[in-house]
Amino acid sequence: MAWNTVGKPEDIENGKMKEFDVSGKKIVISNFDNKYYAIDALCSHMGGDLGKGKTNGGVVVCPKHHAQFDLKTGKVTKNINGLFKMMTKKDAKDLKLYDTKVEDGNLMIDL
Ligand code: FES
Repeated sequence: MAWNTVGKPEDIENGKMKEFDVSGKKIVISNFDNKYYAIDALCSHMGGDLGKGKTNGGVVVCPKHHAQFDLKTGKVTKNINGLFKMMTKKDAKDLKLYDTKVEDGNLMIDL
């Protein structure tokens, strides 16, 4: 693991998220009251791009089959169901959560 600078804290508005490419890995970082949370941007179900998902409070909805993940923890808050579940026969799993910090005015992630 190593600290990587991804941008400035002010790049992400309070209550919003933004996708970053960090050493070839897609990461979503969200800002809640100037605390920053970083999770994998590829959905654990079938690789949907969570950076393109809708957010609702602290949750991001996968644009592919609509699993929902807590942006602060990476945990699944609502798994896929119905037709998508029947078609894919697999569940979404909790996403990896990465440490973040703000240092010298830079937003950093431990990856
Ligand atoms: S790829 Fe995200 S819910 Fe299926």
